[in-house]
Amino acid sequence: MSKKFFIKTFGCQMNFNDSERIKGILRTLGYEPTDNWQEADLILLNTCTIREKPDQKVLSHLGEYRKVKEKNPKALIAVAGCLAQRSGWELVQRAPVIDIMFSSFNMHQLPELINQAQAGYKAIAILEKPPEDEDKVWEFPTERDNPYCAYVTIIKGCDKNCTYCVVPKTRGRERSRSMESILEEVKRLVDDGVREIHLLGQNVTAWGKDFEKPIPFSELLYQVSKVEGVERIRFTTGHPKDLTDDIIEAMADIPQVCNALHLPFQAGSDRILTLMDRGYTKEFYLERIQKLREHIPDIAMSTDIIVGFPTETEEDFEETLDVVRKVRFEQIFSFKFSPRPGTPAADMEGQIPDEVKTERMKRLLDLQKQIMSEIAKSYEGTVQEVLVEETKGEDQVIGRTTTNKWATLKGDKGLLGKLVKVKVLKASPFNLDCELLEVIR
Ligand code: SAH
Ligand code: SF4
Ligand code: F3S
Repeated sequence: MSKKFFIKTFGCQMNFNDSERIKGILRTLGYEPTDNWQEADLILLNTCTIREKPDQKVLSHLGEYRKVKEKNPKALIAVAGCLAQRSGWELVQRAPVIDIMFSSFNMHQLPELINQAQAGYKAIAILEKPPEDEDKVWEFPTERDNPYCAYVTIIKGCDKNCTYCVVPKTRGRERSRSMESILEEVKRLVDDGVREIHLLGQNVTAWGKDFEKPIPFSELLYQVSKVEGVERIRFTTGHPKDLTDDIIEAMADIPQVCNALHLPFQAGSDRILTLMDRGYTKEFYLERIQKLREHIPDIAMSTDIIVGFPTETEEDFEETLDVVRKVRFEQIFSFKFSPRPGTPAADMEGQIPDEVKTERMKRLLDLQKQIMSEIAKSYEGTVQEVLVEETKGEDQVIGRTTTNKWATLKGDKGLLGKLVKVKVLKASPFNLDCELLEVIR
């Protein structure tokens, strides 16, 4: 009987894409997936440590998953990802049930680590720096749940030093993946039926800067768009400072690049932005948005915001609300500032009490709720292009518009993977009820 694995993933899309690669690696070792951790021979947690909450979740899951060994003493528990990277042996001491641990740098070593653990050793391979042979990981396939939309990691690590953030510590310096390797994967995915390519990195807009002969990210967009069969391109996350004019122009020029952009601004106050070391001002951010909208008038913007950064005053917070009012984001992801061990912001004077963070967060979300329902209304009666991704119930299908909104329409599995034109009948912030007009291709 084949061995079974169970993976639980926390954190960002990069981590999800890493898990897809880990699943691919485990398949090559003869493992089969299971949805039930109790029958797994290998349980793997791919962890996140961006805020305190995800840290706690990992520990409570480990407490539960340890029970797998009661029935199956040979079952292995593995921990990967950013918390593993940050905590190393300290985490193993707190949770001795861990058999295997590795960094995001050395996923390709998983087969050896499993052998080591099966032989009865603790296989802990947390590296300080990415190893020389890191690129070996691209040789493994990924296993995806969505047959039509695929993530492709194009750059790892981050060279920015935002004072609140653990990512530069957990993911290392920026390493761009070669154009060749990216295009090869894109071709493979398209041959496999994928129609939407989502380029991933902590800072995709910095792609190509670290090559001996630097290549602009806009050039990568053009090259990906030339791969036959690529119908849609998205990318996450861009950094405002690196969103140069050539990228905006390429986005407008390339028909497959979706009309949506996630561009975190974090805070509206210039004083706070300086303390965060974000490298731009409120005015610069708003100017980038204006430029984007000049070139792509119907672009849907989304963003990340941190509420309650150390020393944030009422006036500072008003500046954040002002950006939200001016830009009118389709979606915001807002987080209470969470001090991370070892980051400069964690030790800053003027930490904000949790009640204040909660109160500001509520005001932010109330404002956003109102903006979202107004934006939703503006969709009613419009014609949109949707890539159908899934069936829903007996006679409906769902997919996303180019602006990244979920749409529901009547249809069956014959529509899966098709680009369709729809008319929006009724809209709410998280769903558009649509009528099919035509199947485009
Ligand atoms: N590379 C991306 C974001 C990665 S982390 C970028 O720079 O835009 C995702 C989001 O988590 C960040 O945009 C930020 O809003 C939030 N975040 C990061 N560190 C945080 C912290 N210490 N406390 C609260 N939110 C944080
Ligand atoms: Fe973190 Fe800043 Fe890098 Fe984003 S750009 S990953 S917030 S250090
Ligand atoms: Fe979390 Fe690491 Fe992503 S800390 S947000 S999983 S890069």
